[in-house]
Amino acid sequence: MKDLEIKKYIDLEKKRQREHVELIASENYVSKDVLEATGSILTNKYAEGYPNKRYYDGCEFVDKIENLAIKRLKKLFNVKYVNVQPHSGTQANMAAFLAILKPGDKILGLSLNSGGHLTHGHKVNFSGILYQSDFYEVDNNGLLNYEKILKKAKKFKPNLIICGYSAYSRIIDFSKFRKIADIVGSKLMADIAHIAGLVITGHHPSPIPYADIITSTTHKTLRGARGGIIMTNNKKIAEKMNKYLFPGTQGGPLMHSIAGKAIAFGEALKPEFKYYIDQVIKNAKIFSNEFISLGCKIISNGTDNHLLTIDVKTSYGLTGKEASKILQKNNITINKNTIPNDTEKPSITSGIRLGTAAMTTRGFKEKHFKKLANLIHLSLKNKKDIRINISNLINSL
Ligand SMILES: Cc1ncc(COP(=O)(O)O)c(C=O)c1O
Repeated sequence: MKDLEIKKYIDLEKKRQREHVELIASENYVSKDVLEATGSILTNKYAEGYPNKRYYDGCEFVDKIENLAIKRLKKLFNVKYVNVQPHSGTQANMAAFLAILKPGDKILGLSLNSGGHLTHGHKVNFSGILYQSDFYEVDNNGLLNYEKILKKAKKFKPNLIICGYSAYSRIIDFSKFRKIADIVGSKLMADIAHIAGLVITGHHPSPIPYADIITSTTHKTLRGARGGIIMTNNKKIAEKMNKYLFPGTQGGPLMHSIAGKAIAFGEALKPEFKYYIDQVIKNAKIFSNEFISLGCKIISNGTDNHLLTIDVKTSYGLTGKEASKILQKNNITINKNTIPNDTEKPSITSGIRLGTAAMTTRGFKEKHFKKLANLIHLSLKNKKDIRINISNLINSL
């Protein structure tokens, strides 16, 4: 690379990614093939439109790539219609809303404090600006309470109910959400940005038979190039989702990203991916159990998926911001996270969210997460610098 200023920072970031314990639940390490595709000459190509219906010439090869991404994604989720062009999970959600709602319609999502996402109706986001939003919460045990959600839905009468979250560690019962949506005459959207990898391998029930429209990111447990996808089994909704993605909300697709997604979909179709997700979940369970045995308060008292949220206020008398600062000094990267009924602002928080997807890709097994829980506990309890070296951690066990 000739630009030495940028190269310097890429090299430093590479070193950081190698030397830090990465526990951000929405991150992962992609394969060399995915990296190669996203850094390829495909970034040069304009391809507004869809395969065989482009507004630019010279699309014969990128058409093949997008068609492969589409074919693989349909197979992965056993779904009829997909769109692989969203630049991000947020773009996918925006096009999905436009496909099934009118501006000003009512949407009901999980609150940010309870583990929802900004795009599910928060007032600072397009979803809370263009639509009338209200929220359901998890109960005192940190669990979804379907009776309370039904009550809320009956009162609010939403046009759309959103399920699928950013920081919820338990199984989501999509069939119950379908029933609630049918009772109140609402559409149902599942945003499986976090759990997509687990849905593919059967470690989490699939929303495909229940939701009118399904969105996801491709870079979390799915371990692909950054981006989004939209899926549905409904032909009319599919036509609208395509129309509202392009030309509705995006211009030319990022063909290098679509190639990176296609490669990741191919990788996720292989049996090895199932072993990977199996290990991700085993690791999350032991991680969470170890924190509990050390006396920590974990939201919902455990996990069924790849993430867990620790109430660091109750457990250590720290805010999420303080805890994340202490851990960062120890080369452990996490994110502060609000917890149910949080009294702190989202920029401070009372919790931290930890995920096992990235370090499982690096080869961490149960014994590493058990040790890691003890190291994190030690540093948060004593607010002290314990300096963790990943290779030492791997080699020492
Ligand atoms: C549930 C959920 N939906 C949507 C998104 C948005 O994805 P992106 O950051 O790619 O816009 C996220 C990202 O964290 C998420 O957790």
